[in-house]
Amino acid sequence: MSDAPVRVADEIRRATAQLAAAGIDSARRDAEWLMSHVLSCDPGRLIVIDTIDDAHVREFWTAIDQRARRTPLQHIVGTAAFGPLELAVGPGVFIPRPETEYLLEWAASAAATMADPVRIVDLCSGSGALAIGLATLVRSARVTAVEIDDAALKWLRRNVSEAPSGVRERLDVVAADVTDADQIGRAIPAGSVSIVATNPPYVPLRSEVGPEVDHDPARAVFGGDDGMSVIVPMVPVIATMLAPGGLVGIEHDDTTSDAVVDCLRAHGGFDEVTARTDLAGRPRFVTARRVG
Ligand SMILES: C[S@@+](CC[C@H](N)C(=O)[O-])C[C@H]1O[C@@H](n2cnc3c(N)ncnc32)[C@H](O)[C@@H]1O
Repeated sequence: MSDAPVRVADEIRRATAQLAAAGIDSARRDAEWLMSHVLSCDPGRLIVIDTIDDAHVREFWTAIDQRARRTPLQHIVGTAAFGPLELAVGPGVFIPRPETEYLLEWAASAAATMADPVRIVDLCSGSGALAIGLATLVRSARVTAVEIDDAALKWLRRNVSEAPSGVRERLDVVAADVTDADQIGRAIPAGSVSIVATNPPYVPLRSEVGPEVDHDPARAVFGGDDGMSVIVPMVPVIATMLAPGGLVGIEHDDTTSDAVVDCLRAHGGFDEVTARTDLAGRPRFVTARRVG
């Protein structure tokens, strides 16, 4: 390595070219993000940092090489942003996606219209994105996070324990299969829940997914041949736990909005079944109200 000062702007430019050559659309943003991670500063501050030392240069290029091999940015920096949260993530847990923030916003708005105490359940909780997000946004809510996978449960428990005081005390973690009525019934009394929010595994097995998705556990991503293998058996479990008038929001694959609507209607215990889209008009999640 030469003694000449290494300029941050030059390194970001070279890294951007390497990431773009690796097929990463957000090459510039990722390069800046990784530089700010290495320098422990906000990305907005990079503009005022002129040069970096050799140790930081090495750390930066190690991170860029990982990213060029399509390791998710979130695994390299160890965190994922979700709504108001910064969650710890890594191998073994699904990286929360920005599109799930629509479901978070819907559930938080729905909770705001309900009388206290609001009892919320996040089924298929993964890192705890929805559960911790809702406990943060809905200050009166008691929130239960349900997850089946041991590796995911470790990340979930860590994120719950690291949630701020005033939030973590209102969160419970349950290790259970959301399709098993007996397991869920032992943890969550029938008719006790105000809102269920769930982002289950829903990608149909035949779908092509990007290289970064290979880093998510298959159990977190795929929902059988039709993307409905968890959603269909989960619906009667949801119906049992919801109080009359309680609400459910189920995120789903782009291709399965009608299937989720049909499944909720066919159950017979829900009304106001509504397919919801994101700002780009893509079908994103379905909501319904427990009758009774
Ligand atoms: C798509 S990820 C969603 C994680 C999180 N809710 C989020 O939005 O980031 C689905 C999660 O469901 C869990 N899961 C899969 N099948 C399950 C089941 N039968 N019961 C409980 N959790 C399950 C997976 O382990 C994974 O953590």
